[in-house]
Amino acid sequence: MGKIIAVVNQKGGVGKTTTAISLACGMGMKEQKILLIDLDPQYNATTGLSIEVNRKTLSMYNVLIGEKNIEDIIMKNVKHNVDVAPSSIDLAAADLFLLEQKQNNQDILKQQLIKIKNNYDFIIIDCPPSLGLINRNGLSAADTVLIPIQAEHFAMYGVSQLLRTITKVKETLNPKLTIEGVIVTMFDQRTLLSNDVLAEIKKSFKDRAYKAVIPRNIRIAESSMEGKSIFEHDPNGAGAKSYWELVNEVMTHNGK
Ligand SMILES: Nc1ncnc2c1ncn2[C@@H]1O[C@H](COP(=O)(O)OP(=O)(O)OP(=O)(O)O)[C@@H](O)[C@H]1O
Ligand SMILES: [Mg+2]
Repeated sequence: MGKIIAVVNQKGGVGKTTTAISLACGMGMKEQKILLIDLDPQYNATTGLSIEVNRKTLSMYNVLIGEKNIEDIIMKNVKHNVDVAPSSIDLAAADLFLLEQKQNNQDILKQQLIKIKNNYDFIIIDCPPSLGLINRNGLSAADTVLIPIQAEHFAMYGVSQLLRTITKVKETLNPKLTIEGVIVTMFDQRTLLSNDVLAEIKKSFKDRAYKAVIPRNIRIAESSMEGKSIFEHDPNGAGAKSYWELVNEVMTHNGK
């Protein structure tokens, strides 16, 4: 049974896409069959894996508006064991389309994944920094959510809103939704602030806060621009080491 994990946080730039790519590629390297779904109109996960997007690219837009089945847009083996359902700039229009749809506009992705779920060990969804209908489709399709939180001022600000949204989705669309885990990103060992944020997250999320902590690391920032995962770009660096720890924790937690 494929496990569907949505990487979510409505706050922008906290490391969602980097974490989604690293998890997908790392688990792929560990011989898990992975589908990475890019649900963000900024298509950073798509370009972050060297996929070129142009006006003709079939994307999650075509799926969400009901024009294509997800099988028709999936790109196979983009990285080792990683298939990708790409995004494109068109996806920005999907929120409005879904809003006008009014009925059944929050479970389109869920319906699409039923057919292909068992072709994969893990399906990772990179969600956009919003709580709109595209995001709702991600949350209602998911088994669990993985929340990256950046170690900075007001890090927890917004997390309570996210948790309320998750509770609401649980009550209405997806009763089985749970928290996969919380990962602290862009951690700076030297600052008191980073350490305070980490302590607060451990206190709030207990065993759902990962032991792995992702450092602020220039190699991680470079890797997305290169269209590579951190494991390809700088396999022996601190960034790769921390993301391997996360990969291992997620796999162990899921009995892999
Ligand atoms: N650990 C890190 N150290 C340094 N830079 C990082 C780290 N993680 C991510 N970055 C960089 O920070 C920026 C934001 O990261 P990313 O795109 O993963 O965040 P996001 O939450 O997906 O953003 P958005 O909300 O816009 O989708 C990117 O330029 C990325 O390369
Ligand atoms: Mg992103």
